[in-house]
Amino acid sequence: MNANTVKLIYFSPTGTTKSILEGIAQGLQAETVKHLDLTPPDASTRAIDEMHRELAIVGAPVYGGRLPPDAAQRLRRLKGNDTPAVVVVVYGNREYEDALLELNDLAAEAGFIPVAGGAFIGEHSFDSEAMPIATGRPDEQDLKKAAEFGRAIRQKVAGIDVLAETLPLEVSGEFPYKESHKWQDVSPTTREGACIRCETCITVCPTAAISMNGTLETDTDACIVCCACVKACPTGARVADHPRIKRIQEWLSTNYRARKEPETFL
Ligand SMILES: Cc1cc2nc3c(=O)[nH]c(=O)nc-3n(C[C@H](O)[C@H](O)[C@H](O)COP(=O)(O)O)c2cc1C
Repeated sequence: MNANTVKLIYFSPTGTTKSILEGIAQGLQAETVKHLDLTPPDASTRAIDEMHRELAIVGAPVYGGRLPPDAAQRLRRLKGNDTPAVVVVVYGNREYEDALLELNDLAAEAGFIPVAGGAFIGEHSFDSEAMPIATGRPDEQDLKKAAEFGRAIRQKVAGIDVLAETLPLEVSGEFPYKESHKWQDVSPTTREGACIRCETCITVCPTAAISMNGTLETDTDACIVCCACVKACPTGARVADHPRIKRIQEWLSTNYRARKEPETFL
């Protein structure tokens, strides 16, 4: 088999998962790299995407040790058609727990054949200047490891004659998965005085939870607290300032300072 055409498939509200996938693709040295971005809200309803024997690299962030439910819903709509897949989760330097196993299982159920897996580290969505959590990751070292992983995948795929006969991929994680956490009523808010009504937050929100009706309104049921709006806001008007989020920031920033390194499964 060859890996000349690669399709990057990702849900990545703050862009770290996308960066890791691009790093892996670089190491793979594919002739063609396509993107299927499942982050915009319409990815939950638009026509189902069918795979056509490319190598898929499927990535999602870790939320509470699991896949974000919206990411899982969007990934479940894909049709793998026996395409080989690399499954990748990106987490904010705490733990990834059952997320990679969940993604591996989900990819297989969607008709992909997982051939490699990885857990990489990205800046935590709740990172702030006052409470740093994996700030600036993936950094140069992470991207170097992503490229090395890409080279190893290329080698593995080149050695596969009959894809259906490859052994099932084993990754870290436990089934039944840990319970999914529901992030309720902790949405970011807007400092009205600083908001310039540019609507960048509305554009980047993966669940269409923000609307402009004179002032910004946030649908707290739809909000998944991904903090894409906070990170993209050009004036710092969007803030993750709910007391519960602040407590979590403090806990993460205090207890998960030690640098974690990527893990790969081949
Ligand atoms: C609601 C929520 C829950 C999260 N849970 C975890 C977690 O359990 N472990 C962890 O290490 N990071 C966790 N993170 C951090 C993200 O996994 C991390 O920031 C990731 O790089 C975001 O990916 P993206 O940039 O592709 O959106 C969480 C982030 C959010 C928003």
